[in-house]
Amino acid sequence: MVQPSKSTATQDELQSFYQDLAPNSLGALWTVQERTLVNEPKSKAVAHLWPWRELRPRAMKAAELVGTQDAERRVLMLLNPGLEGRVATTNSLFSGLQIVMPGEAARAHRHTPAALRFVIESQGGYTTVEGDKVPMRPGDLVLTPNWTWHDHGNDTDEPMIWLDGLDLPLVNMLEAMFYESYPEDVQPITQPLDSTLGRYGSGVLTPAWQTSDGAHSPLMHYPWGKSKEALLRLAPDAEGSPYDAIILEYSNPATGGSVMPTMACHVQLLRPGEHTMAHRHTSSAIYHVVEGEGTSVVDGQRMDWESKDVFCVPGWAYHEHINRSSSEPALLFSFSDIPVLRSLNLLREQSHPQDYQPEG
Ligand SMILES: [Fe+2]
Ligand SMILES: [Fe+2]
Repeated sequence: MVQPSKSTATQDELQSFYQDLAPNSLGALWTVQERTLVNEPKSKAVAHLWPWRELRPRAMKAAELVGTQDAERRVLMLLNPGLEGRVATTNSLFSGLQIVMPGEAARAHRHTPAALRFVIESQGGYTTVEGDKVPMRPGDLVLTPNWTWHDHGNDTDEPMIWLDGLDLPLVNMLEAMFYESYPEDVQPITQPLDSTLGRYGSGVLTPAWQTSDGAHSPLMHYPWGKSKEALLRLAPDAEGSPYDAIILEYSNPATGGSVMPTMACHVQLLRPGEHTMAHRHTSSAIYHVVEGEGTSVVDGQRMDWESKDVFCVPGWAYHEHINRSSSEPALLFSFSDIPVLRSLNLLREQSHPQDYQPEG
């Protein structure tokens, strides 16, 4: 019969054995086992809220002080207080606030981190993606997938501000970062205006003469009007998710899957007074409040939010959402690393045993 064996070494023998390992680039797994193979994840990232009233004046100040000649991208990074020293908003995701002033252009470049833009303030302005000029209006979602050329421009009289979302921390962790500047400041427009919206924007009808490799959505522009209309149509009758109320995923029209292989985007509606149940999952998410006011409780921490605020929910942290208004819906945009965890068979979800957190 086999059974665990007893250690026979003296303390001195053990000490000298361990001391000999490090200089030889070796280590004893059994001495770090408990902190390596933990029972469940505990993110170093913490729940955090960035209020719009703190963000906007600082974005404007950045625009006053720094030109786009000196800043390839004028982005205020949303840095997680638990991840000091890292360029990260959650463990795998980065978010920032980008501002482009009237008459300004942000130079064309491309990189392997994929990016999305959720427009907060704009009278027009655009992002050009692979020769396709995509107009950007408040609430629009614009994609610049992995290794696509993109530049931004503001040809209006008002500042443009949007939320950037990137998988930058993940790509850095995988050591798969590549970056390239376009030979000119601005890439030529080679497609009819907003061409991907023309081809794929109906959502259910896709061009039969074109194929897509499915790696990322062929649609670069998800206008706000359609997202909001879909939510409002469902809100009166649909049951929705117990954890997220009326929640819709922005989908790749060619596959029905997530918009990009590393990030999923969602928009959700909390009906007046609605309080969702608490759950947690291994994916992390960054939320932007499009309209309304409410509270999210994340790992027991209450975060009161209002229109245009940004907050993050680390992986495996219990969270629930409350719409504080008794008359108006609350609309949230969010992006997450769900596709990464799902494709690696690491996506887990758990309901709170009491349905709600004690603080909720
Ligand atoms: Fe970029
Ligand atoms: Fe969730």
